[in-house]
Amino acid sequence: MKVLQVEKISKKYGEKENAVNALNDISFSVEQGEFIAIVGTSGSGKSTLLNMIGGLDIPDSGEITVRDRRISGLSRKELAVFRRRNIGFVFQNYSLMPVLNVYDNAALPLTFDRGGYVDHEYISELLKELGLWDKRTRFPNELSGGQQQRAAIARALANKPAVLLADEPTGNLDSHTTIEVMGLLKNSCKRFGQTILMVTHNEALAENCDRILHIEDGMLVSERQGDGI
Ligand SMILES: Nc1ncnc2c1ncn2[C@@H]1O[C@H](COP(=O)(O)OP(=O)(O)OP(=O)(O)O)[C@@H](O)[C@H]1O
Ligand SMILES: [Mg+2]
Repeated sequence: MKVLQVEKISKKYGEKENAVNALNDISFSVEQGEFIAIVGTSGSGKSTLLNMIGGLDIPDSGEITVRDRRISGLSRKELAVFRRRNIGFVFQNYSLMPVLNVYDNAALPLTFDRGGYVDHEYISELLKELGLWDKRTRFPNELSGGQQQRAAIARALANKPAVLLADEPTGNLDSHTTIEVMGLLKNSCKRFGQTILMVTHNEALAENCDRILHIEDGMLVSERQGDGI
């Protein structure tokens, strides 16, 4: 089942001599449960692409469809709801709420939505799966980088998103923790059929994904299969 379709997306920032074509006519589609790596040099447009798919920014032209929902026509308010219900984000810098403990950070996206209904059983399952159950009452500043990133992954998965968007999720982690976090992402892909798009500069990690999209100068220059291990 197709979960994401990106059709001829373009985005320009700035005007005249300062203009940057951040994305240039990019098209691809993603099946449910695929783990996609997005690679490319710095400034090639990877984060811009994720931001468009996640509805954080709006393309100048083209169409993005998530779970049969075209997002280009949505108002700001509708986009916010769309994001909460369909998209999970994981960033390089964890971006947890410092005043909330691990459990409440993970449950946060749910408390904003669905009339405040939180599936506590699912949150608990996620925290156990991610090896964070013992740390559930800890605050972010009491955790290691890897633990913080795992908490951020729990939060991103809490609303069972159609697509998990991860922008350099292991960029700040040592190699041991990188392997661990990557294993958790793979596991959520295999176990829950979670669709993941991950930006990475780490070639070995990219090779382990199902498919590798290579972006340069805002264009999709190549697309190939990874090992999918
Ligand atoms: N809000 C913005 N305003 C102006 N220019 C922007 C904006 N966001 C991105 N750009 C430009 O668009 C291009 C693509 O940026 P983007 O952040 O997508 O690159 P990237 O591939 O994620 O790079 P990196 O690997 O360094 O994170 C760059 O030239 C950048 O300077
Ligand atoms: Mg980036």
